[in-house]
Amino acid sequence: MYDLIMKKRNGTPLSEEEIRYLIQEYVKGNIPDYQMSAFLMAVYFKGMTEEETLAMTWAAARSGDMVDLSGIKGIKVDKHSTGGVGDKTTLIVAPIAAACGVKVAKMSGRGLGHTGGTVDKLEAIPGLQTSLDREKFVDIVNQTGISVIGQSGNLAPADKKLYALRDVTATVDSIPLIAVSIMSKKLAAGSDAILLDVKTGSGAFMKTVEDAIVLAREMVSIGENAGKRTMALITNMDRPLGCHIGNSLEVIEAVDTLRGRGPEDLTEICLELAANMLFLAGKGSPGECRVLAEKAIADGSALDRLIAMVEAQGGDASVIRDTDRFAKASFEHPVLAERSGYIGAIDTESCGIASSMLGAGRETRESPIDHSAGIILRSRVGDYVEKGQVIALMYTSDKRLLEGAERRYREAVTICRQKPEKQPLIYARVTDAGVEKYCQNDD
Ligand code: URA
Repeated sequence: MYDLIMKKRNGTPLSEEEIRYLIQEYVKGNIPDYQMSAFLMAVYFKGMTEEETLAMTWAAARSGDMVDLSGIKGIKVDKHSTGGVGDKTTLIVAPIAAACGVKVAKMSGRGLGHTGGTVDKLEAIPGLQTSLDREKFVDIVNQTGISVIGQSGNLAPADKKLYALRDVTATVDSIPLIAVSIMSKKLAAGSDAILLDVKTGSGAFMKTVEDAIVLAREMVSIGENAGKRTMALITNMDRPLGCHIGNSLEVIEAVDTLRGRGPEDLTEICLELAANMLFLAGKGSPGECRVLAEKAIADGSALDRLIAMVEAQGGDASVIRDTDRFAKASFEHPVLAERSGYIGAIDTESCGIASSMLGAGRETRESPIDHSAGIILRSRVGDYVEKGQVIALMYTSDKRLLEGAERRYREAVTICRQKPEKQPLIYARVTDAGVEKYCQNDD
């Protein structure tokens, strides 16, 4: 291990065999954390070659279960978001793809820090099981076209161990290490093709479009070199996505969107993500796939897929048919504008933290979640507000949490005299052929 650390420190690439050794022995406990920390820091400064990242991704993927989806008929397309605030796209995009004949057998995560997680949102639906055995998972996808469950405990355990170490050694924000971490789980999860939604902006890991593109290129290259069709969209997370933040609130907004009544930004991003998933599955040209995705919302077939999945996973679908049936938070609290002017910015990360403070997120891995807690944005970036106007509604089951969360939300919102410039919703599409700029999606 000493030699491997020195090699990386000196900028010499490691062989596939050396990387495999490093990962296997670390998982077995034969390499101590202090040596792995030194190696990770050397990677942080020296980077990794394409061959090294591919080798490390496969080694991390193969450190645990490799999910076998061969029992599912048809092309399986996975979708991954690098994490955001108000990002309920999986709940919309996966049913659209399923309604258009693409199989979605997806493993999702829980909330992390200020960002939400799909599993927590699904668990806001009474009775819904996110922990299913493999046979049941495969059966549900064959029957309904879609199933979304929690990540199995033994999916890429090397990543779990490495991530915990990166978290305490200031090596989380290394682009090759993020790419390896995400793609190891995607390779282990077994789909044929992968669409990546790489978020950029104040609420994302990647704060600039340039960094998001570098990360997307690394992940696309890993996916393609591993034999999976892989593409990425670079999307805006400089503001929360849609108007609802918090678990049951986000399910409600996802259902509204599947009924064709969602906010414009969320609807547009979901249609583009779904169209690109359909394109990866060979359902037609990008334009034809966009039309298919729009039709799946217009004719209700995507909503039907969500209902079928909820029922198959033991959930009470009456809350999807009528979202007024979701349990309500005990307290609703309006946040009022302190002055008149345009909403110039809403710091996405602070907004996610405010929602978490209301009970929508976890303080520690084991903390319980208040599924009904969260925030509804009444005014969004670019809106003109009068002093005293309600700009947001906060929901919680614990009144004592309101004061701190309201303070945090106020800090997140900037009210200014000038109307802010519009920002694109989607910046670029990254494929193995290169980076294409998206032009049409100004919000
Ligand atoms: N998400 C992951 O799964 N891994 C990272 O390293 C960063 C974000």
